[in-house]
Amino acid sequence: MRIDILTIFPEMFEGTINSSISKRAINKQIIDVHIHDFRDFTLNNNNRVDDYSYGGGAGMIIQAQPVLDCLRSIPNWEKAYKIITTPVAKTYNQKKAIKLSKIEHLIIICGHYEGIDERIMNFVDEGISIGDYILTGGEYAALVIYDSVIRLLPGVLGNSESTIEESFENNLLEFPQYTRPEVFEGMSVPEVLISGNHENIRKWRRQKSLERTYKYRKDLLRKAKLNEEDKKILIELKKEQK
Ligand code: ADE
Repeated sequence: MRIDILTIFPEMFEGTINSSISKRAINKQIIDVHIHDFRDFTLNNNNRVDDYSYGGGAGMIIQAQPVLDCLRSIPNWEKAYKIITTPVAKTYNQKKAIKLSKIEHLIIICGHYEGIDERIMNFVDEGISIGDYILTGGEYAALVIYDSVIRLLPGVLGNSESTIEESFENNLLEFPQYTRPEVFEGMSVPEVLISGNHENIRKWRRQKSLERTYKYRKDLLRKAKLNEEDKKILIELKKEQK
């Protein structure tokens, strides 16, 4: 997968992209990442890429020209799937991460300041917001999207980091996990997990997943695939709440 990121803060990506799982994905040639500074494309003598908002207002707006010229400098940019990070968009989720992970060439434009000239939207496929809060820059959102997408690509995570059982993939939050020591600061690992009884462990984990989803994210439960055993557990949880 090729990923191009357009930003005026390329330094915000260097460390992240060349660390950890991303570094491994690049070294294994699973991803080919290019960071572009669209300031390099400004025609302004003072190197500015922003200007005042037509109609007035305090914030500065990124001009469409440097962004579009930068976009056009990317090979095959027209065929790529192009997204822009902005709070004015549908909210990102795991389903969208899975969709993006199947794309061959992804271009992410980082929004900034008060926004980018609206006319740039005619050149992108969609805007993506990562949540109901305002960031100082779209770079943070781009990094979130980048990380959540690359970890889904085949060969990026090892077997031990498998994505099957995790939160959101099945619309249930993950069960609690423990590692050594068995007793930490007087707190013991739940008995069942050291029992060696795999069926009981499976049931306990499912119960905990349902409990946590019920407690923190009831909205997800509506989308989760629930079997008869799950439904019984939920009926009990509802009774306990009353
Ligand atoms: N830029 C500023 N806030 C943002 C958000 N919540 N998501 C994506 N881009 C943003």
